[in-house]
Amino acid sequence: MQDPKTTAANSSDALAELRATLGADVVSLPAEFDGRQFADWSGTPSTTPLALIRPRTTEEVATALRICHRHNQPVVTQGGMTGHAGGACVLGGEVALSVERMSGVLEIDPVSATLTVLAGTPLQVVQEAAEQAGFMFALDLGARGSCTIGGNIATNAGGNRVIRYGMMRDQLLDVEAVLADGSVIGGRRKMIKNNTGYDLRNLLAGSEGTLAVITSAVLRLRAKPTAVSTAWCAMPNYDAVTALLGRAQACLPAGVSAFEVMWPSYCDFIRERLPELRVPLGSEHAYYVLLETCGADPERQSAAFEDFLADMLDDGVIADAALAQSEADAAAFWAIRDAPAEYPRLIPGRVSFDISFAVAQAGEAARRCDERLRARWPRATILVYGHLGDGNLHVVVQEPGWRDDAIDAVKEVVYEVTGELGGSVSAEHGIGEEKLKVLGLSRSPAELAAMKAIKLALDPRNILNPGKVIAM
Ligand code: FAD
Ligand code: LAC
Ligand code: ZN
Repeated sequence: MQDPKTTAANSSDALAELRATLGADVVSLPAEFDGRQFADWSGTPSTTPLALIRPRTTEEVATALRICHRHNQPVVTQGGMTGHAGGACVLGGEVALSVERMSGVLEIDPVSATLTVLAGTPLQVVQEAAEQAGFMFALDLGARGSCTIGGNIATNAGGNRVIRYGMMRDQLLDVEAVLADGSVIGGRRKMIKNNTGYDLRNLLAGSEGTLAVITSAVLRLRAKPTAVSTAWCAMPNYDAVTALLGRAQACLPAGVSAFEVMWPSYCDFIRERLPELRVPLGSEHAYYVLLETCGADPERQSAAFEDFLADMLDDGVIADAALAQSEADAAAFWAIRDAPAEYPRLIPGRVSFDISFAVAQAGEAARRCDERLRARWPRATILVYGHLGDGNLHVVVQEPGWRDDAIDAVKEVVYEVTGELGGSVSAEHGIGEEKLKVLGLSRSPAELAAMKAIKLALDPRNILNPGKVIAM
């Protein structure tokens, strides 16, 4: 196998050729960056890139990569910079390629229920375009206003509705992308079924800028729900949480579209730091569930939802519940769940985790993390919450004035628990730079070797986001 580390970049030649070929408007140099930030949300240190490339077309992306490939010049692709794994951060010696100028919905096909979009388009723009056309785009997450479709594909983002509609990969019909040598793959195909060999579209979902630059995609649209029922439920214990999940999936006529769980520490934190959000119910319960169902028959559905909650209260599964009586009530519940958008202001210097387990074990995982973290850092802020319907926990830990080595020690504790319970070190945020060292906890040596072989086959000179996802 070729060793990609033997090929040194010839950066000055690369920069000169990029600028001469694509022009100063597309390729800017550090003196022209004008205070632009190159870090994402992870806290991973990020430096200034050698140049910033902002192509307007797939052809310009291809030209840029052809030049970088010829000169062994590393490239980090950047979308909305909302990632949580340091995947878009600049580690040193890369040029940054931002798809921000490649933005816009190209077409909505109402018969095929598809939306064709450029990679730099913000998620919220796609959601709104789908809604205006009478559809729903199913992916939803707190960074909707800033994250891009290309970034969502590259991280295989998850979010709030995975339990019903799947992750970003489940919304993809085709992905157009430029490989390291400048060749273009994929396109604008709209069919649902396409068993023509290896599924390159799914390979790109979750590739985090290491296999290709994604330039456009054909997305799948879903029927727009006309009835949404939402409740905030207080739960006595973890068995009750899993019982509610199972019974809601079995009994609610429209199924479960969200099952978000918050531990009391999360709710208390919101009460104290964001009192304007008004967390419903008391703080004495063991867990809180934001339960949502969405369908197409408002009257029948809301009656069935109320009956279901009454049954769960009678059976002692739910200790207490607040039912959203209006869209405003439901939005207020969701605002509590979307509060992580405020973390940079409220909890600077935090360490965040995105781990997953079988649903049956997620409660025990959270208990072990909390117990072991509290034993060592009794005064720390420790928040636990997540997309529990998917077995996905987010754990956030911070203590003001921590020593530098505390962060590594916190990671050791949480990943030790993850390993013990056979969990995944990344449920939905990806590996990036942050979790590269712990990838081996969730992947076997044979799997890591297969990933390396794919990476070398598609990017033999290791120019696409080196130092991310997999150690080469
Ligand atoms: P960036 O951060 O710019 O990049 C992320 C990675 O993708 C990098 O490796 C980058 O190199 C690569 N990349 C970006 N664009 C391209 C492209 N065009 N081609 C190839 N590679 C590319 N994530 C979830 O999964 N679920 C959540 O619930 C969730 N909630 C969030 C809430 C908040 C408040 C925030 C700030 C983030 C949240 N995220 C969540 C993180 C999530 O990963 C990102 O929001 C999103 O998917 C990344 O998109 P981006 O455009 O910002 O990508
Ligand atoms: C969330 C992000 C952090 O679910 O994934 O809030
Ligand atoms: Zn999440």
